[in-house]
Amino acid sequence: MTAATNVVWHDTKVTKESRCAHKAQKPCILWFTGFSGSGKSTIANAVEHRLAELKQHTYLLDGDNVRHGLNKDLGFTDEDRIENIRRIGEMSKLFVDAGLIVVTAFISPFKAERQLVRDLVDKGEFFEVFMSTPLETCEERDPKGLYKKAREGKIKNFTGIDSEYEPPENPEVTLDTSTMTVEECVDRVISHLKDNQIL
Ligand code: ADX
Repeated sequence: MTAATNVVWHDTKVTKESRCAHKAQKPCILWFTGFSGSGKSTIANAVEHRLAELKQHTYLLDGDNVRHGLNKDLGFTDEDRIENIRRIGEMSKLFVDAGLIVVTAFISPFKAERQLVRDLVDKGEFFEVFMSTPLETCEERDPKGLYKKAREGKIKNFTGIDSEYEPPENPEVTLDTSTMTVEECVDRVISHLKDNQIL
């Protein structure tokens, strides 16, 4: 594939500001990161539900779902995971431009790509939510039976088994679903958004 040249950016008449004003809200990205089975999808879903009750306009992007469509050409090598997050990052940026609160649930194992997404949006629009649930708990839960397969060598490059996970150094929110209830996790995220004038 050859990247396009001679491509010029067009400014639009309807701006991010006016889209946000029509929705009467501030957009942002709530970026959930953590091991498979750490609770990303569950908490991201519950947070989106609470935001909907608060009449906020949202969109949830989830690893397994996006990999069925936009990113179905990607696997789990480091290179593919990097491209996966790059595309999700660009898509999240567009949704923020549309005035939405974007909730994402991807393992996103590498610091560099999470930083890249943070840098795509304005300061204060990116909230990293680290699911710190211990790997042992995730493996015990094994909701999709994937850890078992990875241990048996039937799945290669499985995060936490034979593929690296780099934990965030300064996440905005840290949640451990082995000690906190879903309700507690959601409350923590919502208070963080209130403390930061998003809600
Ligand atoms: S990421 O690393 O590129 O961010 P992503 O969140 O999109 O990963 O996808 C992770 C999901 O894919 C897991 O929840 C799991 O269901 C499934 N999966 C399949 N193979 C793997 C693998 N080798 N490593 C991690 N997850 C895998």
